[in-house]
Amino acid sequence: MRAGLLGIEGLSREDIDVILSRSHDFQPPPRQPFKRFEILKGKTVVNLFFEASTRTRTSFEIAAKRLGAEIISITASGSSVSKGESLVDTLNTLGAMRPDAIVMRHAASGAPHFLSRYLPIPIVNAGDGTHEHPTQALLDARTILDRRQSLEDLRIAIIGDIAHSRVARSNVYLLSKYGARMVLCGPASLLPCELKSIAPGVELTTNMREAIEGADVIMMLRVQLERQHESPIPANEYFQFYGLRPEHISLANQNVIVMHPGPINRGREISSEVADSQRSAILNQVENGIAVRMAVLESVLAPEPAQQREELKAQ
Ligand code: NCD
Repeated sequence: MRAGLLGIEGLSREDIDVILSRSHDFQPPPRQPFKRFEILKGKTVVNLFFEASTRTRTSFEIAAKRLGAEIISITASGSSVSKGESLVDTLNTLGAMRPDAIVMRHAASGAPHFLSRYLPIPIVNAGDGTHEHPTQALLDARTILDRRQSLEDLRIAIIGDIAHSRVARSNVYLLSKYGARMVLCGPASLLPCELKSIAPGVELTTNMREAIEGADVIMMLRVQLERQHESPIPANEYFQFYGLRPEHISLANQNVIVMHPGPINRGREISSEVADSQRSAILNQVENGIAVRMAVLESVLAPEPAQQREELKAQ
């Protein structure tokens, strides 16, 4: 992890276990405030976002601050990128300021990998095109583990615009390392067969009821209109076939966990009744994003994780 976090694909199950367990240390007890630490005191993180973000950007900011680091957020629209500066020139400029790490979101798949070859500092991928969103998959796993003993043997339905979803891809990589059974579901045009080859436990279906039957977890995905080149399925029609509604919940296992990485589009991929129901873990995912990103930033930037574990336990 010292080199940064570019994706889930290259992590071992042990690497993932370490982050998930460390993020558990950082989760505050219910209704209690987050603690502040000095683990990353003196470190500077640049949060470089070339694509829109509410949850991910803010939670990286909060995570860095809670560990005592300084963090500077830069968005494409507020930077010289909007004046025509190239990616390489932007990166060289930021590199010359010697941050300790860069968190990066970019519309091009592979952009953080390119950056990591260019700059001698750790890069954390906050979402690259349709490729990976590693911290989202980690926080999703943390959220499931808050409610279930293990990720093994779970049946997980991932439903929606699979083709354009870096969240789906990172989750498939992560969950397959634990032997979870996954059903990917969406309209045929948004359901790429190649994801089946990532792991043996992956099935594909265009039938939403079939996907949900017996599911322990339902992960809904946003229809990513910004990445679609053909005219989209109208919202009401999409909702009729792939929108999660109360009648679907009874098909799933008892106590099914409903998740969505956000931003949610009510009435397109999920109904308000389900999004706001007891089954929904959507806001827990947001909350867990902070603890997971604290664990990731620590593993990337802190020199002596074992010692810090002691520091955390002593507080
Ligand atoms: C996701 C993303 O950006 O990939 N959102 C997020 O980070 N919470 C999913 C999405 O935008 O639909």
